[in-house]
Amino acid sequence: MSKLFVADLQGKEEIESIFSVKIFNTMEGKDGRKYFNLILSDASGDLESRLWQYSEEVEKNISKNSFVRVRGKLNFFQGRKQFILSHIEKVSSSEVNEDDFIMKSTQNPEVMFKELLAIVDDLTDVYIRDLLRSIITDGEISRRLKTWQAGKSIHHAYKSGLLEHILSCTHLAVNLSRHYRVNDNYVVAGCILHDLCKIYELTDGVNVEYTEEGKLVGHLVKGLEIVDRYAYKIKNFPHYTKMHIKHILLAHHGEYEYGSPKIPQTSEAFLVHLIDMMDSKMNTLEMIKKTDSSTGHWSGFVKHLDRIVYKSELPFYPEYIQDEEVYHEEKRESRPAAPAPAAHAPAKKPHATEPKTNMSKMLSGFKIED
Ligand SMILES: [Fe+2]
Ligand SMILES: [Fe+2]
Repeated sequence: MSKLFVADLQGKEEIESIFSVKIFNTMEGKDGRKYFNLILSDASGDLESRLWQYSEEVEKNISKNSFVRVRGKLNFFQGRKQFILSHIEKVSSSEVNEDDFIMKSTQNPEVMFKELLAIVDDLTDVYIRDLLRSIITDGEISRRLKTWQAGKSIHHAYKSGLLEHILSCTHLAVNLSRHYRVNDNYVVAGCILHDLCKIYELTDGVNVEYTEEGKLVGHLVKGLEIVDRYAYKIKNFPHYTKMHIKHILLAHHGEYEYGSPKIPQTSEAFLVHLIDMMDSKMNTLEMIKKTDSSTGHWSGFVKHLDRIVYKSELPFYPEYIQDEEVYHEEKRESRPAAPAPAAHAPAKKPHATEPKTNMSKMLSGFKIED
């Protein structure tokens, strides 16, 4: 049986394949009958699933993080894909190729790491440069950095996602520090170090969880410990430099209600917070476009963004429209086609009030589904 991937499932089809169980809950319907509510997943995305036939055996054997062989039918419910299972059985992890179940960054981690080092080597503050270099080239830190994901589910939640997020933020740090004329050494340091200690906060593997250190200490405070540990190895590391780096790390979540023990109080700390927020939200949007299972233009509700989002590409016209009938596709279809302009005819200049978008093209490209 070849592996079917969530992203390739089109709907209204019989499915038999192996998935990992991301969420497994026993529920009770209004009529008091029990059923199972699952989220099945693989490297390409998640699939809402239901098993209406309750059985004690299934409840006992299947749990979150199990690999399962399932059979059933993919339907649509309220515009979203929903997999209705008729059979489920646990399979051993030795029977599966784990790579099929781990979502990965599209970028090569070794290449990303080299890019990051090159940015560090270009820094002009010798203390910050040496501090960053010694931290990220530490054997265990670099190994984890190339592999870990940036979160359990919110953004960059895939293998090497942490490095992708850190590198993306660091590129923004270089460009925006120049734009706003702030000290790029600190902004780069903040972007590299702000989430680095997620390598201690989270586990790796198929189902990422918070570690005890993550729950009890967290990546912000752990970041300070790392800065202290490596700064002590650098002779005469300036106290004020260390203090400002620590402030950036403590303030990067921006607001007290988002778990920030400090709010940003320097331009560099503000910029790191804004870059972090921008990069996490843009990645969330990118992932929604790739993995959301709702039909049509709109996603389901995205908690991290507190809204639904428009998933389709926006209309784009690199050339002016020659066809005047641009608003109503039906009207256009009922009329005979306009003669093609003569090859030597000058290109028609658009009138100031003439729309530059071809709605008929747009509508045909974006057929509205229910
Ligand atoms: Fe963070
Ligand atoms: Fe971050």
